[in-house]
Amino acid sequence: MSNFHFLSSALMFFHCFMVTYAVTTRNLTTDQSVLLEFKHQINDPYGILVDNWTTSHSFCNWIGVTCGDKHNRIVALNLPNMNLTGTIPPELGNLSFLASLNLSGNGFHGDLPGELGQLSRLKLVDLSSNFFTGEIPSSFGRLHQVSDLVLSNNNLTGAIPPEISNLLNMRTLDLASNKLSGSIPSSIYNISSLRMVSLSFNGLSGKMPDDMCHHLPNLEALYLGTNELSGQIPTTIDECRNLQGLALDYNQLSGSIPRSIGNLTALTELYLGGNNLEGEIPWEIGNLLNLEIFFAVDMRLTGLIPPSIGNLTNLKEISLGPNFLEGEIPWEIGNIHSLEIFSAPNMSLNGEIPHSILNGSSLRAIYVMLNHLSANYLCN
Ligand SMILES: *[C@@H]1O[C@H](CO)[C@@H](O)[C@H](O)[C@H]1NC(C)=O
Ligand SMILES: *[C@@H]1O[C@H](CO)[C@@H](O)[C@H](O)[C@H]1NC(C)=O
Ligand SMILES: *[C@@H]1O[C@H](CO)[C@@H](O)[C@H](O)[C@H]1NC(C)=O
Ligand SMILES: *[C@@H]1O[C@H](CO)[C@@H](O)[C@H](O)[C@H]1NC(C)=O
Ligand SMILES: *[C@@H]1O[C@H](CO)[C@@H](O)[C@H](O)[C@H]1NC(C)=O
Ligand SMILES: *[C@@H]1O[C@H](CO)[C@@H](O)[C@H](O)[C@H]1NC(C)=O
Ligand SMILES: *[C@@H]1O[C@H](CO)[C@@H](O)[C@H](O)[C@H]1NC(C)=O
Ligand SMILES: *[C@@H]1O[C@H](CO)[C@@H](O)[C@H](O)[C@H]1NC(C)=O
Ligand SMILES: *[C@@H]1O[C@H](CO)[C@@H](O)[C@H](O)[C@H]1NC(C)=O
Ligand SMILES: *[C@@H]1O[C@H](CO)[C@@H](O)[C@H](O)[C@H]1NC(C)=O
Ligand SMILES: *[C@@H]1O[C@H](CO)[C@@H](O)[C@H](O)[C@H]1NC(C)=O
Repeated sequence: MSNFHFLSSALMFFHCFMVTYAVTTRNLTTDQSVLLEFKHQINDPYGILVDNWTTSHSFCNWIGVTCGDKHNRIVALNLPNMNLTGTIPPELGNLSFLASLNLSGNGFHGDLPGELGQLSRLKLVDLSSNFFTGEIPSSFGRLHQVSDLVLSNNNLTGAIPPEISNLLNMRTLDLASNKLSGSIPSSIYNISSLRMVSLSFNGLSGKMPDDMCHHLPNLEALYLGTNELSGQIPTTIDECRNLQGLALDYNQLSGSIPRSIGNLTALTELYLGGNNLEGEIPWEIGNLLNLEIFFAVDMRLTGLIPPSIGNLTNLKEISLGPNFLEGEIPWEIGNIHSLEIFSAPNMSLNGEIPHSILNGSSLRAIYVMLNHLSANYLCN
């Protein structure tokens, strides 16, 4: 009985060893043939790969290729900024150990092959700044390990596939500067690992869900500027409590700036301009002590410039006009010694531009034309 047990274990071990050996060897050959196929489809004007990707050397020493220690399978294919052109062959989906794929800053074109979705070990995907077209394959929703998905600066079209929200380890989702349309799948806001979401410069429409920040405690940057988003800024935006950058500018957002924005005390950049926002600038803006850029031009804001803005002693840039703001520029502005640009043209501001604004030595520009302001002291 025990002999039999021993024998069967040994056989089992031997059997498994043979299978592993066969699979690894076969897939090593696969890895090399995939790279050769890739090279075959690439136009390489500077000859970076020509003499380097040759079978006289192990592909683990080829430029841009990294192999794992155990199996000598390819774990990284990183060829950024190498002026390569061509298409990505579907065979790349056979590099089953790949954890990092970085082809950013080249001239690749064509569709993103759906076969890339087979690469279940991928952690970093950066295909940004190429000329890729077509839709984001829904199979990308199977890249469960992915932490960075960067496809910005291409010409991708269609909707963001909702399957993307299966990527529960994602920290960076950067799809900016494409031609994506449709609404942002609200399930994306359920990925609590997210730190950076950039979907700016697309044609995305729809509303921001009221509860979008319930599940995003780690989010540090939310860039949704230059799209076609409508509806209001959720009043619960302050639940994204670690936000440092918030860009919602150049959409079709309406309603007012929620007072709760003053709770986002980590904010350094706040871009709201180019929307249909109305009402007053909440005085709570003065709580954003880390704010460096406040951009709120081209809207329908009314009322006064809140004096609390003078509390923001890290501000470098305030852009407030055109809007329908009125009254005097608060003298507290002079407390902001870091101020470089004060821009408030084409409104109904009156009185004298406070002398104190010249207190800061950083000031480079004041744009206040088309108001009813005076600054007699400047003429002396
Ligand atoms: C090796 O390749 C085969 C066929 O392409 C695939 O089914 C298998 O999962 C691969 N094995 C490993 C360990 O990647
Ligand atoms: C290919 O390039 C890598 C990195 O520059 C270098 O280490 C390697 O020796 C080169 N291989 C050949 C065959 O030129
Ligand atoms: C890419 O091309 C530019 C000129 O078009 C050149 O300056 C640069 O060195 C090239 N990059 C590489 C990695 O060869
Ligand atoms: C590699 O990928 C292609 C296309 O996805 C597939 O047809 C082929 O069977 C794969 N080859 C191997 C050896 O796995
Ligand atoms: C891809 O490579 C570029 C150039 O080295 C680098 O700047 C970028 O951060 C890399 N992408 C990722 C996701 O690491
Ligand atoms: C996107 O397509 C337009 C033409 O439709 C072209 O002018 C532009 O260069 C393309 N941009 C990228 C990054 O592919
Ligand atoms: C987000 O997660 C919550 C709780 O896990 C769930 O109730 C809700 O349906 C999810 N929302 C979306 C849009 O997936
Ligand atoms: C957030 O802001 C609102 C309105 O300004 C305020 O009533 C509330 O107490 C704040 N919440 C937190 C947690 O600071
Ligand atoms: C902010 O500014 C207002 C008006 O200038 C002032 O009354 C208030 O004390 C300031 N708050 C803080 C925390 O500095
Ligand atoms: C000033 O703003 C109004 C809207 O508030 C706009 O209609 C007008 O064109 C602007 N004038 C200039 C010179 O920008
Ligand atoms: C700013 O300048 C005014 C005079 O122009 C001066 O009275 C005031 O003390 C200065 N304030 C600060 C905070 O430096």
